[in-house]
Amino acid sequence: MPLLAFETSCDETSAAVVHHGRVLSNVVSSQIALHAEYGGVVPELAARGHLQNLMPVARAALREANVGVGQLEAVSATQGPGLPSALMVGLRAAQAMAFVLRRPFLGINHHEAHLYSPWINGNPPAADFPALQPNVSLIVSGGHTMLLHVTAPLEHRLLGSTVDDAAGECFDKTGKLIGLPYPAGPELDRLSERGNPKAYDFPRPMIHEPHDDFSFSGLKTSVRYFLRDNPGILDDGQRFRDLCASVQAAIVEVLVAKTIRAARRLRVGCVTASGGVTCNRALRAQLAAACQREQLQLRLAEKTLCTDNAAMIGILAEQKLRFQMAPTSLDADILPNWTLG
Ligand code: KG4
Ligand code: ZN
Repeated sequence: MPLLAFETSCDETSAAVVHHGRVLSNVVSSQIALHAEYGGVVPELAARGHLQNLMPVARAALREANVGVGQLEAVSATQGPGLPSALMVGLRAAQAMAFVLRRPFLGINHHEAHLYSPWINGNPPAADFPALQPNVSLIVSGGHTMLLHVTAPLEHRLLGSTVDDAAGECFDKTGKLIGLPYPAGPELDRLSERGNPKAYDFPRPMIHEPHDDFSFSGLKTSVRYFLRDNPGILDDGQRFRDLCASVQAAIVEVLVAKTIRAARRLRVGCVTASGGVTCNRALRAQLAAACQREQLQLRLAEKTLCTDNAAMIGILAEQKLRFQMAPTSLDADILPNWTLG
């Protein structure tokens, strides 16, 4: 029987219906326009946006999947981490539905859902977690940058994470410095296509350090100094695109180098990547090239499953049911700081 999932941890309101590892619908309503004028997500506005959008999005997901509420086997939602007031909307709605329908409720960790998202659909299709091979997994989003070692389905260990800004945050903050609207990642990616990534040499923070942690705040600072020393560059089309490509190259090189090094050290045969920044074309291409060179299998989350979505929440919830994991209490609270071990 199908499962309904909600995701409201940040600024996307999403509902999805999944069944036997397949995504029957995945409706995402983005609030980007709501937050753009503030240059970042405003938590109170995000929560109100979720309140307005959640029911229309849920109805659309059920309709698209051709599933009635009475047919649902379980209901799930992101329980954390995320913005507290935003998380509350999806969690309480899912718990209320599970209560009325007398079905199990599953509270899902947002990062764990990203972690397994490369196994949804894809080529070859592998929604079945038993198909999963031990791997090193990179999660790169606006809020987080993490490397994990996945040893078996639902068994993973955190290797390292960012000590300051996340990779997506670095795209967004440097983008803001050079005048791009929030979120700057996609636009910086697009502008970089016609820029020279070797034009300017920005630091590759922590690239040679032997641990698996990341740091991106220094890169943002060096872009600020670069702009001070190169007035006028923002008005010079080609030099501006070169600047975008050079910043992007610095971020991507660090992500790829540290991921591949961890994969070699842990002797896994597979690398995966997920989270919003995995939409980035240079990251996808350079991970693919490095994995080919190192003879590693690569599974990248599909682009529609990279940014926040409820399908990844539902697929993980379904697997948890399948692995006989206990449902979450209907009284369970949000976990805004829930970390992955
Ligand atoms: O996973 P996500 O939707 O939300 C979080 O959980 O944070 O990721 C959003 C982040 C933003 O920082 C956005 O700028 C970045 O992903 N992003 C990109 C691209 N598309 C989205 N960054 C670089 N290149 C892209 N194409
Ligand atoms: Zn996310």
